[in-house]
Parts: sequence; C-alpha cells; structure tokens
Amino acid sequence: MNKILVTGGAGYIGSHTCIELLEAGYEVVVVDNLSNSNTEALTRVKSITGKDIAFYQVDIRDRDKMNAVFSEHAFSAVIHFAGLKAVGESVAQPLKYYDNNIYGTQVLLEIMQQHDLYHLVFSSSATVYGEPASVPITESFPLSAVNPYGRSKLFIEDMLRDVGASDPRWNAILLRYFNPAGAHCSGLIGEDPKDIPNNLMPYITQVAVKKLASLSVFGSDYATHDGTGVRDYIHVVDLAKGHLCALEKLQSKPGVVPYNLGTGIGYSVLDMVKAFEKASGCEIPYSLVDRRPGDAAICYADASLAKAELNWQAELGIEDMTRDSWRWQSGNPNGYEDT
Ligand code: NAD
Ligand code: WQD
Repeated sequence: MNKILVTGGAGYIGSHTCIELLEAGYEVVVVDNLSNSNTEALTRVKSITGKDIAFYQVDIRDRDKMNAVFSEHAFSAVIHFAGLKAVGESVAQPLKYYDNNIYGTQVLLEIMQQHDLYHLVFSSSATVYGEPASVPITESFPLSAVNPYGRSKLFIEDMLRDVGASDPRWNAILLRYFNPAGAHCSGLIGEDPKDIPNNLMPYITQVAVKKLASLSVFGSDYATHDGTGVRDYIHVVDLAKGHLCALEKLQSKPGVVPYNLGTGIGYSVLDMVKAFEKASGCEIPYSLVDRRPGDAAICYADASLAKAELNWQAELGIEDMTRDSWRWQSGNPNGYEDT
C-alpha cells in the first residue's frame, strides 16, 4: 500500500487526509474538479509536509481522463471524497446530486475494475441513519434517507455492497462521518465554504470574523439539556487519521464494511457557541429561531466498532476543535480567496 488516489483531495476533509497520508509515507495523487475547492489547499499541504502531490483537475465522471490517470499510476487503493454535500441544495437540485455523487462513483468503480484495483475507502455519512430511533447509533441501526444528498450516500453504500457481493475481490470501507469540525493545527488549511455556510461550525467562525452578523440557532425546544440540537462533532484531523486506519484494514480483505467515525459525545448548539467564545475570546451574537425541517434532536455515535476493528478512536475534543477552527478562520478570514 503506497500510492493512493484521493478523489476530492483538495476539499476540506481530503486536504487534511493528504497531510496524514504524506506524513505516514504514502505517495498521494489527487483528482479534483475544484467545484468546491481551491488548489491553494494543496499548495499548503505541500508546504506543511515538505512533500509533493500529483494533482489532476479532473471530474470523476470523465471516463477518458480518469482512465488516463489510472494508466499513469499504479494505485494500491482509492480514498473517495469527491462529492457534493449541501443538503438544502440537494433538495432543490436532486438530479445534480444523483449525477455527481452516484454516477460519479459508478464511473470510478468501473475504471477501478478495468485497472484491477478493488480497494476503496468511501466517505459515507451519519445521514444514512435517517432519523435514528435512539442514541448512541451503531452500524447495525436501520438505514434510510431523508433528503437527496442522504439518498445519494445510501445508494452508493448499496452499490458498494452489490459489487462486493458480485465479486469477492472488492474491499470497501464505508466511513460514516458524524459532524466534522476543526482544522489543521498549523492554521494553514481548514474549511472554506464557497457560499454562506450550511453547517454550524463554519457559520460560527464567520460570525466571529464579522462576515456574518449573527447565528440563528435552529430550535430551542428539543428534549436536550438546553433545548438546542445535539451532535457528535469530530475533529477533522482525527477523521483524517481514521482513513489511514481504514487503509490498513483493507489489507486484511474485509469485504464491504461500515464504520462510524465519531467521538461518542454529544454537544448542543449552545455548548459549541460557548466553547468557541472561550477559545476565541469573541462574542457570538445569536438568536433562537424555529427548528430547521429534517433536523434530529440528538445524534451521536457508538464508535466502539472502529476502536475494536480499525484500532481508531478520536483523541481531540471540543477545545481543540474550537481553538483550531478559530486559528484557521482568524488567519484566513476569506479562506483561500486572498491567495
Ligand atoms: P468538500 O466539498 O470540501 O470536498 C469535496 C471535494 O470533492 C471538493 O474539493 C470538490 O471540488 C470535489 N468534487 C466534487 N465533485 C467532484 C467530481 N465530480 N469530480 C471531482 N471532484 C469533485 O467536502 P468535505 O467536507 O471535504 O467532504 C468530503 C466527503 O465527505 C464528501 O463526499 C461528503 O459528502 C462527505 N461527508 C462530509 C461531511 C461534512 O460535514 N463535511 C459529513 C459526512 C460526509
Ligand atoms: C448541526 C447542529 C443544527 C447551522 C449535516 C448533514 C449531514 C452531515 C453533516 C454530510 C444542528 C444546528 C446549524 C446553523 C444551527 N454532512 N445549526 N444554526 O445537520 O447535523 O449534519 O452535516 O454528510 O449529512 O445533514 O450539521 O452543522 O448543519 O448542524 O442551529 O446556522 O447545528 O440545527 O442541530 P447536521 P449542521
């Protein structure tokens, strides 16, 4: 296992994973169409690690170009981050999500098969649990989708289970991320949403640098300790390290298996606001507004399977996530745009 193809490697989680891969001695090739990212992220990955990355500005749906990349390099595995991830946009433009995420993955799998490569780590999501009946959530909970984005993730999981059942050479680890947050400790790379953020942490950090005026807290009447929604926020560097553990696991030819990547701890929206204020010294103005449709009250992982079988567990906590998010946002108020 030494040369890894990272699809979507210029994005938020992909760029952090590139650092961990390079630091562990892997060679990294990135394919990204830059639809939601900037090559500056990869330039900074190179400067943090002192190592090179081969980059191809290619859409995973482009068979000819993907084929050319696979002909040029002998990969031992693919880590597949490339995808669109905005829930609201997926409701407004479902076909865009089915085309990019589902068809894009289908093309990737076909090209892998043509080149005799059967090892994949896939970015799944806790969204495949739909509205969970209880917490903590284990991998054996029923799966369902509550929006087209979630349906695209669930369909890709099913696609991988189908190819695994059809041919035992396939090994795919489905990493179901909970709520990624934080940034690399260098402060040089982090989350850089192109539009107004949908997710809580980037919204908070943009309020802190006064790009946004105030946070709307969606719902204050949930049955939680302070009435606001509870989630399992996981540091993006912990998440990135989980991919290296998954690559190790692929060597034992496990078939197609899912793992939750979360901390197992739930924090409310107001817990996150308070922790961020403490870490940054900034006040975050907020108002309590109606619930956001489709939001669960409480969602957190049982991450014991990843600990037992991947030898992985989260090591960083809420102070690390809020401090590192602030270091990134305050040092780069406009993300990568200024470079
Ligand atoms: P991101 O948008 O920062 O990264 C995705 C990358 O994929 C971007 O660089 C984008 O340009 C690229 N891309 C998209 N479509 C492509 C295509 N057709 N061809 C080539 N490149 C393409 O998002 P992220 O937060 O780093 O998420 C990475 C993966 O993890 C996604 O699949 C996402 O669905 C999944 N995920 C993210 C979260 C989260 O909250 N961030 C949670 C669970 C799962
Ligand atoms: C977290 C909490 C909100 C914004 C989403 C996707 C999921 C996965 C992770 C990709 C909730 C509250 C948020 C705001 C708020 N992505 N909130 N004001 O909804 O748990 O998960 O991202 O796979 O599929 O659905 O994350 O960060 O949007 O919300 O009060 O402006 O913060 O209601 O309780 P979510 P989030």
